[in-house]
Amino acid sequence: MTQALQTHPISDTAVALQETLVELIDLSLQTKQAHWNVAGPNFKPLHELLDEFTDGYRGWYDEVAERLAAIGVAPDGRTATVAANSPLAPLPAGQLDDRALVALVEERVAGVAGRVRGRMERLGEHDLVTQDLLIGIVHGLEKQVWMLRAQRS
Ligand SMILES: [Fe+2]
Repeated sequence: MTQALQTHPISDTAVALQETLVELIDLSLQTKQAHWNVAGPNFKPLHELLDEFTDGYRGWYDEVAERLAAIGVAPDGRTATVAANSPLAPLPAGQLDDRALVALVEERVAGVAGRVRGRMERLGEHDLVTQDLLIGIVHGLEKQVWMLRAQRS
């Protein structure tokens, strides 16, 4: 019984972290793709902003993966795992108009923010440390959504 009480929350935490890991890796790949393919009058600020976002995701997913390791679960950041499990739609191939691109990236960042927020709220019941990590990530993602929204106005 004690074992069940201990492992059930760890399993919930592990699922929340693994799902977040996959989404943040995909987001980092998509913003790098966008960084290379943005075109239009706002090329320069968007090219730079997207690279900042990529750096942010890399830092966050490293923390998420290491939290998984810390609770005794092997993080899975393999390409095949990300491709099979990410809920993000791929970006269209090729060069992307700056305004359309901002909308595409905003849609993806907002989607990840919403899903991580859901996990963050559920984890509060049994893992405050992981919840704290996810709170920081949601804070950052929601700030990015605002930055993208401001680009479109
Ligand atoms: Fe670059």
